Amino acid sequence: MNNYAEQKKTEISKIEDIIKQYCPKEEGLQKIIFEAMNYSVEAGGKRLRPMLILESCRLFGGNDEEAYPFMAAMEMIHTYSLVHDDLPAMDNDEYRRGKKTTHIAFGEDMAILAGDALLNYAFEIMSEAVVNSKQPEKMAKAMSTIAKKAGVYGMIGGQTVDVLNEDRPMNIYTINFIYKLKTSALIEASMMTGAILGNATDDDIKKMEQIARNVGLAFQIQDDILDVTSTTEELGKPVLSDEKNHKTTYVTLMGIDDAKKKVEDYSNDALNLLDELNYKNEFLNNLINELINRKK
Ligand code: IPE
Ligand code: IPE
Ligand code: MG
Ligand code: MG
Ligand code: MG
Repeated sequence: MNNYAEQKKTEISKIEDIIKQYCPKEEGLQKIIFEAMNYSVEAGGKRLRPMLILESCRLFGGNDEEAYPFMAAMEMIHTYSLVHDDLPAMDNDEYRRGKKTTHIAFGEDMAILAGDALLNYAFEIMSEAVVNSKQPEKMAKAMSTIAKKAGVYGMIGGQTVDVLNEDRPMNIYTINFIYKLKTSALIEASMMTGAILGNATDDDIKKMEQIARNVGLAFQIQDDILDVTSTTEELGKPVLSDEKNHKTTYVTLMGIDDAKKKVEDYSNDALNLLDELNYKNEFLNNLINELINRKK
């Protein structure tokens, strides 16, 4: 393993430990909701968003510990979006992160509640971090950024238009609108949060938003490609989900080769913008570069 791969492996296991520390204890009459929450969060995943928070915070010389609550909260919000995305009323998928989806394991009622619970719990964690901080303004700004990017102007808005356009042909403008919201928004929130915690200037926070927008577009187009070219074993989630749900994607719109080119283009745009900053973090560069050829 090269140096970057080793570093990344160590970092993922550190992130897993941090997330676990913030997960609720499974006890009380409502024990099942805690089990359902932890089931999906602890199932694994690439932990890309918490990693982007941590590495963006480091890019601006921020303090690791300040990022921890936001890393855990972001992964909970992301996981809730997946739990709900997989529901029968949405993409109706049976596998996620190599395990049965939450509604298969716990029933639809508990999956809906577990999603709600993860979203709310994320805000319990973040607001507590604000209240207990010596720099509450900075922490509140990070929380407010995450709130907006996760909501109707961000991820939820994107999922809305995504669902609305099933079974309908879509042009590239509508697709880009959807991808910027459903996928880029949480990635933007992650990179902006890291920058905010590192006391970046408003100008640099804006630049991080722009970088993350490109990363998110590349990430979602690669997700579309893998939905067609990968296997359920490798991805840990069903392939051909988009076809099943009659989704227009970059792959249906322009074919695999052009879609691959777009992943490369958007990733390179992100890397070029990152290079323009007066700060360097080689790990973050490697992480974004790796997304171009990611297999899962
Ligand atoms: C899946 O996100 C949803 C998309 C935005 C494509 P990830 O591919 O990051 O899922 P995990 O966290 O690794 O399971
Ligand atoms: C969903 O996009 C993105 C979310 C906000 C959850 P997809 O529906 O393509 O994500 P996967 O392929 O199920 O992970
Ligand atoms: Mg979906
Ligand atoms: Mg889906
Ligand atoms: Mg997909």
